[in-house]
This record gives sequence, C-alpha cells and structure tokens, in this order.
Amino acid sequence: MSILIFDSGIGGLTILREVRVALPGRRIVYVGDDAGFPYGEWDEEKLIPRIVDLFERCVEAYTPELAIVACNTASTLIMPALRERFDIPIVGTIPPIKPAAIHTASGLVSVLATPGTVQRRMVQELVAEHSQDANITLIGSTGLARLAEEHMQGLSIDQEKLAAELDPCFVERDGARTDIVVLGCTHYPFLVHEMRRLAPWPVDWIEPAEAIARRVLSLIGPTPPVDPREGMSDIAMMTAGSPPPALARLLIGFGLLPADRPFRPLNS
Ligand code: DGL
Repeated sequence: MSILIFDSGIGGLTILREVRVALPGRRIVYVGDDAGFPYGEWDEEKLIPRIVDLFERCVEAYTPELAIVACNTASTLIMPALRERFDIPIVGTIPPIKPAAIHTASGLVSVLATPGTVQRRMVQELVAEHSQDANITLIGSTGLARLAEEHMQGLSIDQEKLAAELDPCFVERDGARTDIVVLGCTHYPFLVHEMRRLAPWPVDWIEPAEAIARRVLSLIGPTPPVDPREGMSDIAMMTAGSPPPALARLLIGFGLLPADRPFRPLNS
C-alpha cells in the first residue's frame, strides 16, 4: 500500500518532505501532471475531468491507501468530485487562511496563490468568514509557480520578476503593515529564501505542509501495514513523460525513481 501525492508539477514535493518526516515507513507514489502545468490558468470545467481521469488511473494502478492532492489550485476545485468517486481517504491542500487570520498582530494578511485558487468560491468564502479577524488581500500570481519550477531545476531566478510578483503582498494601511503572507501554492515554499531576501519588511510566511502531514498521520496511523512489495522504490510518474535530466535529478534528490514512460489521463 502506498500514499499517492498529486500535483501539477514539482510543488507537491514540498508536501512530500513533511509526509516523509511524519510517516517514514510509507511508500510514496508521486504523480505530477506536468503536461497540464500550470493549473492556475485552466478553465474549471476542463480541469475537473482531467484530474478525475488521472486519479482513476493512479488508483487503479497503485491502489493507494490514501491520496493527497498536494495542489491548492486543484484541491479548491476537485475535492467533492474525488471524494464522491473514490473510497480511499483523500486529503486536500487549502491555503491556511484561518490560522493566518487568527495569528496576525497587525490585522493585515496577504494570500499569495495562483489565479485559479484566488477565484475559487471556497477561498472567497474562507476570506469572508475571517474578515472580522483580519483584512485579507488575495493575490493571484501568474508567474511564481513557473519561477519555482525553473529555480528547482537549476535556472537562475529573475529577481525583478519575483520582486514584482511579491510587491502586492506588502500592504501598509493606517500605520499597520502586512505581517503574515500565506503561501497558497505548494510550489512557493521552494522560493521562500529568495522571497525573504526581497521582502521590504520581515513577515511570517506560512504554508500547510506540516499540517497536512499531521492530518495524514491521524488518518492512517504511524505503523506501515505489512507490505508484500516491501523494498519497492518510491516513484514519480510525470504526465509529460520521461523527465529531462534536471527534473530527473530533482526527483531522485527527493528519493523518487522517475518513470521513463508518460502517465496520461485516460481521455488524452
Ligand atoms: N502547485 C499548485 C498549487 O498548489 C499550482 C501550480 C500550477 O499553477 O499548476 O496551487
């Protein structure tokens, strides 16, 4: 039995590293829909069947005991459809707006996410629900997820572009300044060191990976079931096919054996 971790690209690796800490004995199957990247710009009606189809294939091929949708852009859209279709526990990734609203001292919180995530009804509802606690600014970034992909595959970061993407997060109002930035895309923690360096003032950067790992642990427990396939590698299946060398090195660095064949949705 394995844990399935799903994202549009490498962002789910930021969740994977916390899952490995919390549940060290579990086999991981990582699926990255890099042929569909970036999800942030997809129409909702087209993205839903694509992800459901991919999950059909994953669940059939790997019979995971639990799946993690390690992507905010997908989770904020797809969880009801996945939970209706599959019997296994499925854990989603949602921008941690509630803890940010509760913990802000200045009352100003920014949520940095993809254009898709900030438009979702459930995100808008979360913001409305916590608007008594904090003034929450939603920022839909068109370029950050790609910058993270490039950075993690060895390309240098365009500092001006990164600074421009970050700029709207830093709000000053009535003498108060933003003090928490929510990283509402699983790709963004890979850029946090650069973000910290470019920030005009210090803020807390919060992301949900550790909380997700704790949730997974609470659902399936710490002891791995006896696994007849014990010794099998953790693997990464990418929908664009055999990963280019830089991506393959990254996946191997995260302990994943990259598959050499593309893992495609049923209907493509
Ligand atoms: N990693 C995904 C998320 O958490 C988004 C990246 C994309 O746009 O595909 O939202």
